[in-house]
Formats: sequence, C-alpha cells, structure tokens
Amino acid sequence: MRVARSIVVLTGAGISADSGIPTFRGPDGLWEGHRVEDVATPAAWRRDPRRVWGFYQRRRQALLSVVPNPAHRALAVFEDRAKAGGVGFLLVTQNVDDLHARAGSSPLSMHGELAVLRCERCGHRERDLARFDPDHFLACPACGFERLRPDVVWFHEIPYGLERIEAAVGACTDFLALGTSGVVYPAAGYLALARESGARTIVQSLDRPENLHPADRFLPGHAKDAVPALLDGLARELGLP
Ligand code: OAD
Repeated sequence: MRVARSIVVLTGAGISADSGIPTFRGPDGLWEGHRVEDVATPAAWRRDPRRVWGFYQRRRQALLSVVPNPAHRALAVFEDRAKAGGVGFLLVTQNVDDLHARAGSSPLSMHGELAVLRCERCGHRERDLARFDPDHFLACPACGFERLRPDVVWFHEIPYGLERIEAAVGACTDFLALGTSGVVYPAAGYLALARESGARTIVQSLDRPENLHPADRFLPGHAKDAVPALLDGLARELGLP
C-alpha cells in the first residue's frame, strides 16, 4: 500500500541571503550592528522604544529593495505542484521578510512579519509597507494607542502557530530544513521531531547546522542553486504534475 505523502518545509534566513538580506549569526555575533537584546526583546521595547522602532522601520523599508530569489520561487511552484498532485504541503518560515509571499507561497510565519504592525493594547493588526519614518511612532487607528509595534516575535515571546506546526511536523513523511542554523528553539527542534516521528529529513544550508544528525541528508550550498535542484528531484520522485 502506498503511504500518502506530506511534506513540511522549514526555512530560515539562509533562504533569503541570496536576495541580499543579511543572516543573523555573523562572525562578530552582532545582528546588523546591534546586540539582539537591545532591539529584539520586549524589555528593549519598554526601555528604549525609539531605538527599537527606528531599527525595525529601517528593516521594514529595506524590504522594498529586495526581491525573491530562485529558491523562493521554486518553493512556490513546488507548493502548487504538490497540492495538484494530492501531496500535503506546509511551508513554515522563521523569516520576517515577505519574500515567500511575494514569490507566491502562503507561509506560516512563525516569527511574525515585518510588513505587519500590531497594537499591544487592542490587538489591531494592519499591513503597512508605506510608512517608514524611524523617528515617529504610528498610532493605532482602532483604539488610538500611541504606538504600534512591528508584528514580529521577539526573544521571550511565543512564536505563532506552534500547535499546527508541531502536528504537521510529527505527521509528515518528508521534512526539509532550508537555510537555518538550527540554534533557535522551538524551530530548531522540528528536525529531530520529524526524524524521530519517522520522516525522511533533508537539510540544505551553506554551513552545517547545529542540529544536524547523521541520519539527515545534508546538501551544502547556496539556496538559489541547491533548493531548486532539490525540489526538482523531489517532484520527479513523487511524480508531481
Ligand atoms: P541564522 O542566521 O542563524 O542562520 C542562517 C543559516 O543560513 C546558516 O546556517 C547559514 O549557513 C545559512 N546560509 C547563509 N547564506 C546562505 C545561502 N546563500 N544559502 C543557503 N544557506 C545560507 O538564521 P536562522 O536559522 O533563520 O528569530 O535564525 C533563526 C532565528 O534566529 C531567526 O528567525 C530570528 C533569529 O534570532 C527571531 O527573530 C525570533
């Protein structure tokens, strides 16, 4: 009997590196010149909201000068083919850029999205990629609260969609971790969860991720070349239309 296939893909900063977006873990341990705790924690937002807002406004504006690369595009095409072929497919991304969406995918953005602003008082959310002034906060149009925040998940906050992701990872037949260093949990734990649940595990990245296991198939290289090749092979193997 043939087992129904279902695929979960987890992406990280490496998938967008070929679009020119810097990854997080550079050799100097800094993130775009900042310590993570100065710009990506709720405590930083409370302590110095101007600094945090300015940092995120610049990152939000930078989205306008990047475009999806062949890895993003290959994933979007693969998703369509998988669905047409009756194969389950879920794309989970840790990235807060909007490049998967612009390539045509509908990812579950577990760390939120730079393009979305959120009110901490009333929960209002809105998509905004037009207003980037780093020196002025934007008020909530729903309740009037003085400052919206970027709808990104900071350290010490709980990522989005965890129940859905864990259920899909635990039940998938094939798990792909693409462009992620495997150090930030809970996402870094999904590779082991998939493997221990009996899935085939495939890992693509420039460097060997922290959480790589001998049972995982590791494909080193740049995502823009390696990911389309990997997905082509998988589509052929699955006989996708
Ligand atoms: P990292 O910066 O930790 O890791 C990026 C990975 O991409 C590394 O394994 C690199 O080897 C690989 N890489 C770099 N360039 C590549 C390329 N051109 N092609 C393929 N791979 C490449 O990024 P993440 O693992 O995504 O969390 O980081 C996870 C989380 O840590 C982020 O979502 C963020 C951060 O703190 C939050 O903001 C909550």
